[in-house]
Amino acid sequence: IITMNILFRVGQTLMRSASQAVRPAAASRQKYTLPDLPYDYGALEPHISAETMRLHHGLHHAAHVKNLNKTMEKFEKAVEMGDARAQEILHPALIFHGGGHFNHSMFWNSLSPNGGGEPEGVLMDAIMRDFGSFKKMKQQMSAAAMSVPGSGWGWLGYNSWNGKLKIAACLNENLLQGTTGLTPLLGFDVWEHAYYRQYDKRSDYIKSIWNVINWDDVREQFDAAESSKYI
Ligand SMILES: *[C@@H]1O[C@H](CO)[C@@H](O)[C@H](O)[C@H]1NC(C)=O
Ligand SMILES: *[C@@H]1O[C@H](CO)[C@@H](O)[C@H](O)[C@H]1NC(C)=O
Ligand SMILES: [Fe+2]
Repeated sequence: IITMNILFRVGQTLMRSASQAVRPAAASRQKYTLPDLPYDYGALEPHISAETMRLHHGLHHAAHVKNLNKTMEKFEKAVEMGDARAQEILHPALIFHGGGHFNHSMFWNSLSPNGGGEPEGVLMDAIMRDFGSFKKMKQQMSAAAMSVPGSGWGWLGYNSWNGKLKIAACLNENLLQGTTGLTPLLGFDVWEHAYYRQYDKRSDYIKSIWNVINWDDVREQFDAAESSKYI
């Protein structure tokens, strides 16, 4: 049962990422590909350096895709052979690389050289309703991203059960939907690889990243989440 739960969660995440950013090469065997960035490596300068983007996308994200692909291949074999033990052993890698691929695909789209500022329309209305002001949401999200010990992500998420926005911090292996029930709208990658080449302090990186947030993309995530809420 644990097996099925984990797979269900990973499956949901992968399906979402597949429809958003990545198309499987073949219908039968899902092969994941590294999505192109919607801008150049240097486009987010000075807030995020070209070197950081090249490393983050071309090395770290690419490694997740390669390893996810390999793990899926092994997993399918284990399923074909009815080898439950082998399937069990592959879970952590599936979650880690599947989650990594999904998170990063979403992350690139949520940034833009024309980003920053504040959202408009229904998303802004929801932020005002659930946080009191844009500034308060920003403070909570920054604090959550700062609170992650070691590696992880800070998230702005949507709760499909009550229709509200919420901030959450996620550690290494926890999936946002699995542990908090939140649909991810905007994530801040606070793994060291996301900033250490450019910033000594995580807080400086978090201060800067608000200047390149693509609120149009976040609003699209919000619209999609709203239209599939349970209430
Ligand atoms: C995915 O894995 C398969 C089998 O290992 C390989 O043939 C294919 O080239 C890989 N594709 C990517 C994008 O890594
Ligand atoms: C992906 O996001 C989850 C939260 O949804 C986080 O806990 C996890 O660390 C992320 N995985 C990777 C490999 O970055
Ligand atoms: Fe990362």
